[in-house]
Amino acid sequence: VLTTLTRIRELREALDAERAAGKTIALVPTMGALHEGHLALVREAAERADIVVASVFVNPMQFGEASDLEAYPRTLDADVAQLEELGVSLVFAPTVDEMYPDGKSETVVQAGAVGFLYEGRSRPGHFDGVLTVVSKLFHIVHPDVAVFGEKDAQQLFLVKRMVRDLNMPVEIVGVPTEREDSGLALSSRNGRIEPSRKADALVLSQALRAASRSADQGVEAMLSAAQGVVQSDSGVSLDYLAAVDPETFRAIPDNHRGPARVIIAARVGDVRLIDNTMVSVD
Ligand code: PAJ
Repeated sequence: VLTTLTRIRELREALDAERAAGKTIALVPTMGALHEGHLALVREAAERADIVVASVFVNPMQFGEASDLEAYPRTLDADVAQLEELGVSLVFAPTVDEMYPDGKSETVVQAGAVGFLYEGRSRPGHFDGVLTVVSKLFHIVHPDVAVFGEKDAQQLFLVKRMVRDLNMPVEIVGVPTEREDSGLALSSRNGRIEPSRKADALVLSQALRAASRSADQGVEAMLSAAQGVVQSDSGVSLDYLAAVDPETFRAIPDNHRGPARVIIAARVGDVRLIDNTMVSVD
């Protein structure tokens, strides 16, 4: 049966007992408002460890504007019900005070240069907030494995690098993006897209598909194909569209050949959406 714990000490005690019994532990960090994307991570976690811990914590430290933090959907009861169906053992749902007893963390994990690019450019401090809370969760849970979505590719990249840079004893696993049949990447923010703007929201995945189809014509042609799709819809305000090297998360040069990740962020009405896909440029 599933237990929901709000206290760090209680969670540690419960996990110490599991570890003493020889069980391996997988962690799936979330901010709740769970959808099939999150559940895919939980399924992957269940394949890789005996005990699955899902955390549900809307982390104030990774939000810029207070309004964005307040608007974040909170649906803990429904989240717990979904997790129970998938056989999750423990849900960790701490209060802000439990995680930040001094109001904030003075000590911060800095994401470094890649933390200032793309998502980090649009959301200053965001990735420092993500890495700090993920690092806290790793220290609280001590998971053998932690599972993240490729949907947030820059976040996944930075978590992997933090683990390498700081020698954290955890294996990071990435899970492919879950999509609607329409192609739209599942997101907690999709519920805020007005029905009349749905077609605009589809432009992100359509642009990525156009990029993928043109990848055999080189970097420039690939990005113009994607750009063309975005420009054909005046309801989409583009934040960034770029092709990055999966090894460095830096923009690839025009003569790049081989794997690349095409990343896109755009605003549809007042909802900011992101998506990405791997391509092979040749
Ligand atoms: P959240 O946005 O709730 O996402 C939790 C995890 O679900 C992330 O690893 C994210 O990449 C993954 N995810 C979201 N949509 C997905 C989709 N359509 N397909 C596959 N995976 C998907 O990301 C965060 O929370 C926070 O930054 C967190 C890591 C919990 C730190 O606070």
